[in-house]
Amino acid sequence: MTKRPLRLAPSLLSADFSDLAGAVRAAESGGADAFHLDVMDGHFVPNITFGPALVAAVRRHTRLPLDVHLMIEDPARYFEGFASAGGTTLVFHLESRGDPRALIDAGRKLGVEVGAALRPDTPVDRVWPWIGQLDQVMVMGVHPGFSGQKFIPDALDKIRAVRARLDAMGSSADLSIDGGITTETALATAQAGATFFVCGNSVFGQGTIPENLAALRAAIRRGTESAVR
Ligand code: DX5
Ligand code: ZN
Repeated sequence: MTKRPLRLAPSLLSADFSDLAGAVRAAESGGADAFHLDVMDGHFVPNITFGPALVAAVRRHTRLPLDVHLMIEDPARYFEGFASAGGTTLVFHLESRGDPRALIDAGRKLGVEVGAALRPDTPVDRVWPWIGQLDQVMVMGVHPGFSGQKFIPDALDKIRAVRARLDAMGSSADLSIDGGITTETALATAQAGATFFVCGNSVFGQGTIPENLAALRAAIRRGTESAVR
């Protein structure tokens, strides 16, 4: 079984960019455990979002952990900037130009947690050499770039494989799922062994933020309780 608590991290990519402070406040009072910030450079993914200045701005409005998802070609160049901006976990992509060994070392020196993310078409074994040194393994449920896409079910097998490795190692690293999380896929991914749930559209889309968070949390709890391990 996992030792880390189950956590819900609203993705601010789906929030109203003209009122991020309001989105942070509403999600935090609705029970969010962390915030997920999607950094995109227009090269690694077709979209462009924001850099360290926005992470620093969000940091001024919350003390919750900030999970910074670096969908950028050259994460090494920006690690220090995102760490000083207040990022708690810096998640780089295994398909980027970054050298995992160097990034893990850089994270340790900067005093941040380090995660590694896998795109949907990347085989899970790409993460095995690093899994013992990571604070988080992030499985993508969609092709990175945009919120509001449909979950790719192949992610479930990847989650099961990572869960088995982490449990075998006695590791308490977070196993996060990012992209396409609804109450249905939250339940299925919790059942498969995810512990950290990134939710964009399902938090900031239809309905109210507190109700959405409560429904997602209930689904995660049901999934975890019905997990066969
Ligand atoms: C996609 C991003 C996700 C995105 C998730 O590239 O990495 O974090 O915001 O949004 P939803 O939950 O709507 O799929
Ligand atoms: Zn993300």
